[in-house]
Amino acid sequence: MDNILNSATPTILHTNSVKHAGHVSPQERAGLLGQKPLTLWLTGLSAAGKSTLAYALERSLITSGRACYVLDGDNVRHGLNRDLGFSSEDRSENIRRIAEVARMMNEAGLIVISAFISPMIADRAIAKHIVGASYFQEIYISTPLAACEARDPKGLYAKARADQLSNFTGISAAYEPPLQPDLTIDTSQMALTESIQKLLSICIA
Ligand code: ADX
Repeated sequence: MDNILNSATPTILHTNSVKHAGHVSPQERAGLLGQKPLTLWLTGLSAAGKSTLAYALERSLITSGRACYVLDGDNVRHGLNRDLGFSSEDRSENIRRIAEVARMMNEAGLIVISAFISPMIADRAIAKHIVGASYFQEIYISTPLAACEARDPKGLYAKARADQLSNFTGISAAYEPPLQPDLTIDTSQMALTESIQKLLSICIA
């Protein structure tokens, strides 16, 4: 893992900064909120249902009194990661930054639900390392390509098939499924309510 991290994560460019230890521990913050912080890392193709699940889960968690936050690909790419495209380097950096944000949110006591294609096993391994294995749950949204393409809510699959969009995951860029996900959900087979129950049981186990 250290080798992966060394080759894939940027080196720190400055040598004159020193980390400060605060006076409040992550455990104290989590205790204040009365919950176990987690990062549920949803991975899967575009239109697999990641965002739908993430926002429905967030709604259920908030309703049951749990503090949580959704980090979603399309949204984060309008702000923090607006400088990144879809080359493999940019996707790696996208995932690395999200993992760093998730880690900080977990330290603040929050349950984080992340919804990114995050197509590469190595990038997800780095995310898990950054967040911390004990906080990280990998959720594979396994909806098959054909179902995602039939949905095509943004018309992106059609554009990719017509060669109007390059590096499109599943068509002209690879997606590597998780080898040992903590949970697998195929939204073309499982109803939303059942999927949310399964996700909730991980959050409040
Ligand atoms: S990731 O691969 O870097 O994890 P991310 O989840 O942030 O991707 O963004 C995916 C979203 O960006 C898709 O749902 C889609 O709306 C949009 N998008 C635009 N271009 C592409 C592309 N070439 N490949 C995949 N998604 C794209």
